[in-house]
Amino acid sequence: MALIEAASPHTMNTYGRLPIALSHGQGVRVWDVNGKEYLDALAGIAVNTLGHNHPKLVPALQDQIGKIIHSCNYYHVPNQERLAATLAELSGLTNAFFCSTGLEANEAAIKLARKYGHDKGIERPEIVVYENAFHGRSIATLSATGNEKVQQGFGPLVEGFIRVPLNDMAALKAATEGRDAIVAVFLETIQGEGGINPMRVDYLQQVRQLCDQRDWLLMIDEVQCGMGRTGKWFAHQWAGIKPDVMPLAKGLGSGVPVGAVVAGPKAANIFQPGNHGTTFGGNPLAMRAGVETIRIMQEDGLLENAAGVGAHLKGALERDLGGLRGVTEIRGQGLMLGIELARNCTALTTRAAEAGLLISVTADNVIRLLPPLVLNRGEADEIVALLVPLVKDFLAS
Ligand SMILES: Cc1ncc(COP(=O)(O)O)c(C=O)c1O
Repeated sequence: MALIEAASPHTMNTYGRLPIALSHGQGVRVWDVNGKEYLDALAGIAVNTLGHNHPKLVPALQDQIGKIIHSCNYYHVPNQERLAATLAELSGLTNAFFCSTGLEANEAAIKLARKYGHDKGIERPEIVVYENAFHGRSIATLSATGNEKVQQGFGPLVEGFIRVPLNDMAALKAATEGRDAIVAVFLETIQGEGGINPMRVDYLQQVRQLCDQRDWLLMIDEVQCGMGRTGKWFAHQWAGIKPDVMPLAKGLGSGVPVGAVVAGPKAANIFQPGNHGTTFGGNPLAMRAGVETIRIMQEDGLLENAAGVGAHLKGALERDLGGLRGVTEIRGQGLMLGIELARNCTALTTRAAEAGLLISVTADNVIRLLPPLVLNRGEADEIVALLVPLVKDFLAS
């Protein structure tokens, strides 16, 4: 039996980890090194789209590893072109740049916005960002992030961000009134780390219109809410709009690190040779993972599954927890759901894990469910059966 130490002496102290090490998984179930089984309602934070050990993904990745893992961007990578074409088709956009993580995709988006401004003669471009946003932990992306805890200790922050509240058109207009240096609005369709906070459909449509009127880029961070999680390929598609720039990562490679920034006509040609690059981004293994993840999602109807099973899961949570004192709201779409409690409930992650359920708590008081998109109704019912008594006990304590 392996013993999991509470503290790790040689890795940097960046995470308050649970005393669990996962050893393997199958579908939506994982097992730790001691053989304990868990239902995975977190998917490695919205990453394991296809669950664990998927019978179609694993042989494809094994095949790729046996051929070539990495080449580098000095050469063509055929699956880059294939994945870019697929993402263009699914999004209605045109061109992609590949990287490895969400923050890198957002960093690329911020660079695109700034260069878009510089190309128009704007020397100090400004980007509108949102309260409670999360865009990553590089210096630029943490500056765009709307969470002081993430920023503390890392000043001076990158300048050029203007922050506004969610879903408030008047506030957006007031904050941008008379500012000629604005080049972009940067938002998450559903804020993930910020507490599962959706932008309203009418608000998204109005922001699209405003960006068109003012010649700003609309940049939609779909790193967490994209890739089928809400039941459409990209969550903003529920509003019938298209962004100019769309960062992706997390679920795109179903566990293999893959990030992308996808751009429409207004932003597709901003970068020229020498403006941006990466060693790992777009490598053959990552691209095969992206191509196969999307192929399998299409073959197995995982968008419909996310929408249907997500609605079933949300309905069951509303039925069992909706009216309870201490439950503020149940929100989200598809398999991106949040249960907001009236007080800090971070203790629930440990209690859930003890009960055999992997979840997270974000923004201190929102229980977050991001299961693999292969979840079925029976497994959704199991999540409810494990979670509801824990929440009731917690509220009673
Ligand atoms: C919306 C959003 N953008 C960006 C990121 C950063 O992604 P990464 O951790 O891969 O850098 C995250 C991570 O949680 C995210 O949720």
